[in-house]
Amino acid sequence: MALIPDDALESIRSRVDIAELVKDYVPQLARAGRNFKARCPFHQERTPSFIVTPERQTFHCFGCGAGGDVFAFLMKMESLSFTEAAEKLAERVGVKIVKSEEALGPAEVERLKIRELLELAAAFYHQTLLKSPSAANARKYLAERKVSAESVTTFRLGYAPKDGDVAARALRKGFAPELVVKAGLARKAERGGLRDYFFDRVLYPIQDAKGVVVGFGARALGEGHPKYLNSPESPVFSKGRVLYGLFLGLPDVRKQRRVVLMEGYMDVMAAHQHGLKTACAPLGTALTLDQVALVKRYAGETIVVFDADQAGENAALRSAELLLAEGLGVGVATVPQGKDPDEFLHAHGLPAFQKCLAGAVDLAQFQTELALKRRPGALGPAEKSAVAREVLETISRCPDEIVKSGWLTRLAQRLKIDEGSLRLQLSRRGQGERPLRSAPAGTTHPMAPKAELAGGEEDIFTDVFMEPGLFDLVREADFSSETGRRIWQALAKLHPWPGDWSLRVREGLAPEENSLVQRILLRADEFEKTEVASRLQATLARRRAQTRWDALRQTLGRDGKLGAAEHAEYSRLLGELKGSPKK
Ligand code: UTP
Ligand code: MN
Repeated sequence: MALIPDDALESIRSRVDIAELVKDYVPQLARAGRNFKARCPFHQERTPSFIVTPERQTFHCFGCGAGGDVFAFLMKMESLSFTEAAEKLAERVGVKIVKSEEALGPAEVERLKIRELLELAAAFYHQTLLKSPSAANARKYLAERKVSAESVTTFRLGYAPKDGDVAARALRKGFAPELVVKAGLARKAERGGLRDYFFDRVLYPIQDAKGVVVGFGARALGEGHPKYLNSPESPVFSKGRVLYGLFLGLPDVRKQRRVVLMEGYMDVMAAHQHGLKTACAPLGTALTLDQVALVKRYAGETIVVFDADQAGENAALRSAELLLAEGLGVGVATVPQGKDPDEFLHAHGLPAFQKCLAGAVDLAQFQTELALKRRPGALGPAEKSAVAREVLETISRCPDEIVKSGWLTRLAQRLKIDEGSLRLQLSRRGQGERPLRSAPAGTTHPMAPKAELAGGEEDIFTDVFMEPGLFDLVREADFSSETGRRIWQALAKLHPWPGDWSLRVREGLAPEENSLVQRILLRADEFEKTEVASRLQATLARRRAQTRWDALRQTLGRDGKLGAAEHAEYSRLLGELKGSPKK
């Protein structure tokens, strides 16, 4: 709200007539005494319970509880943010919104400058891709990937040349070096000056839901490493808050109230290119609550269609659970033959892909089929029970009793087991289950125990989450914090980790510990998967040496002496610990 001065809001309020505004959207609004009445535009109803009160300039629906002033009405009607609604209303009644630097404050001014800079960079990269001889390979690469000229334009694809030029240009235009770094376009070079952040990569500008460029995804041409480099987090860019492709698809998303969630930049581009504009994707990390909130502003239904590999299946499961928990309709679709949506679309076209989407199944069914697929072979009572337990976990947390019951019946049929036993099993799971609806972001239970890790413990989990196979290297004794040990135990219980371990590990953890794990998972998703094993081994060795040395020192302090062998060990460890870089 900082963007719009109070006096401007006041003039908007005094000039907009709520009845007139509502009439534009609800033509059948009719006078009823001092008020106006109509069927509510925000929910289905047969008799009008939607009331507009001109005296107070408010509206209220006695059916669904929606209500508020002109701003609230427009926000809800058009899925706008407060600022967007205010801007629209200001235009309607001819109020000028002055955004002076003073009114904005220094942080906002900085953000605006960064945006300007990113816009400039996007334009430069785009022109380079279109025209520069240095971009010949990039153009060839995109053509090989079947990215059309039209997609290049609509997605404003660009190319960052080998020698880099953006930082220099920005400086020439008078931007401060610190700002260029903050915007994520350059790093400080070792010998002073700036060095471009991106070079020899195809650039995908990332737009927020208003169409503002907030950062870039940058793909290596061919087999380069890392495959993608994303802009670092900045005052305008936070990976977990944007969905790639959402802005471009908004008109369709609004119309259909639906979003198709994919895994990668390339998938989204292929989808839009083939006419499926409701496709969007997170930026290589697990779906976040912020992204779900973003989807909720525009859509009620989601279809998750991720890559047809194990990582994709797990991510789909995790995303679907979160979407459902936040009250969205979710279907999970699968692309056949191990293809990702990008390949599939180019090979078979949109109608075939639409068929995959139409075949989307709900979360419980997806999980059931996945669990069955991962247990090939005969399905005896023990296997059936294991599958049932997995899926009951999800079913038990479904907020809707009718849906829940339907899922149970279907699960019983699918596993060919008695529905009564299944229901009994579910009821035995007890009342203490965490409901699927999660707590709003940022809230913590006042009584919740603190989840805190000791130094280095987060690194251990991060590495293990990146490569679950490494868990075997880690022992309970490697953790000195209560939280660390509890998380280790929860992970150990799952061993050997099933495909959906990241969902199941939550069950054994307190909410605080779980949100810690989810945060580390996010972090792990962002790291480059190189030298994970050796890094983990180094961390573990250092921590073990430290623990042993601490113990020896304690003995020394208590008894004043150590045996010869212990003394030698003591000195050796000391040397080791001094020699190794400590965190
Ligand atoms: P994919 O490897 O599926 O990427 O990773 P893609 O978009 O399909 O790209 P192509 O087809 O290989 O060219 C999915 C997403 O994960 C993120 C990116 O956001 C990517 O779109 N990612 C992947 C990274 O951030 N870094 C990487 O090194 C790899
Ligand atoms: Mn791909």
